[in-house]
Amino acid sequence: MSEFRSPAALLAAGYPGSVWLTGQQPSRELRKGRYDSESITHPGKMLPTIARYAISTYTDPGDVVLDPMAGIGTTVVEAMHLGRDGVGVEYEDRWAALAAVNIALAERQGATGTGEVYTGDSRQLPVLLPPPVAGKVALVVTSPPYGPSTHGHVRTPGPRRGKVQKVHHRYGGSDNLAYRDHDTLAAGFTDILAGCRAVLRPGGHVVITARPYRRHGELIDIPGMVVAAGQAAGLELVEECVALMAGVRDGVLVPRASFFQQKNVRDAIADGDPQWLVQHEDVVILRRPDD
Ligand SMILES: C[S@@+](CC[C@H](N)C(=O)[O-])C[C@H]1O[C@@H](n2cnc3c(N)ncnc32)[C@H](O)[C@@H]1O
Repeated sequence: MSEFRSPAALLAAGYPGSVWLTGQQPSRELRKGRYDSESITHPGKMLPTIARYAISTYTDPGDVVLDPMAGIGTTVVEAMHLGRDGVGVEYEDRWAALAAVNIALAERQGATGTGEVYTGDSRQLPVLLPPPVAGKVALVVTSPPYGPSTHGHVRTPGPRRGKVQKVHHRYGGSDNLAYRDHDTLAAGFTDILAGCRAVLRPGGHVVITARPYRRHGELIDIPGMVVAAGQAAGLELVEECVALMAGVRDGVLVPRASFFQQKNVRDAIADGDPQWLVQHEDVVILRRPDD
């Protein structure tokens, strides 16, 4: 009979399953003291444990880890704390500046890896990165921006009264891929992955998180788009996994849905649309074939 190990112990040991136990702690606890408090204003951050798990699984200390859509720098900061060298590119100055603040914080906290972030459009990725990075990247960890976000935070005008407002749920620039139609996003993401392929070392991996979302009742298959974009960019599909946003305690899921995720699902069910409260990210793992 196999020995029982708690989810936390499995996670610490680098659980090799296709369901990643990445939701054991709430996101705000994971970020507290490790990221500047302004980071909360980004509408689509990756859960730090997902980046951490991918980096520990697919790289060794000293390797280069890249995020071409770096946001506030989660991939870069987690890479630094794991002794890897993190490189990020972000389209919006505001998020790139915040990523730089988070990188400086990781340095002050004694992270042993280096961190850099560049501003630019990653559809031209190879020309944005310094030449020494080319062919050296062991892992790309990223997530595309898409659709009307279910992230965001609630702010009420007074304690427990007044109209609820949603804040921090939109990106700034209208050229941001987050605001382009599905076909433009797919084409842009394919270009970005082709750039990643060009700077990856042979056998290097690409880990992408994505979720399907609904628009006017229609399911928009973002994970499917990600797989197609990767293959069109010359990468091969390794596997598709699930990264839990929910915790697992004594074999029971502990949901960590935001106010708006819960509200959207309740409203949809009330309208006769049988939606589910999604508590995971799809994780697509691709690889640059060996030469
Ligand atoms: C889903 S967010 C990634 C967040 C990041 N993983 C984090 O935890 O902070 C996607 C990011 O891609 C950026 N972006 C959109 N279009 C881009 C482009 N063409 N080149 C580079 N970044 C882009 C957005 O501004 C956004 O910050």
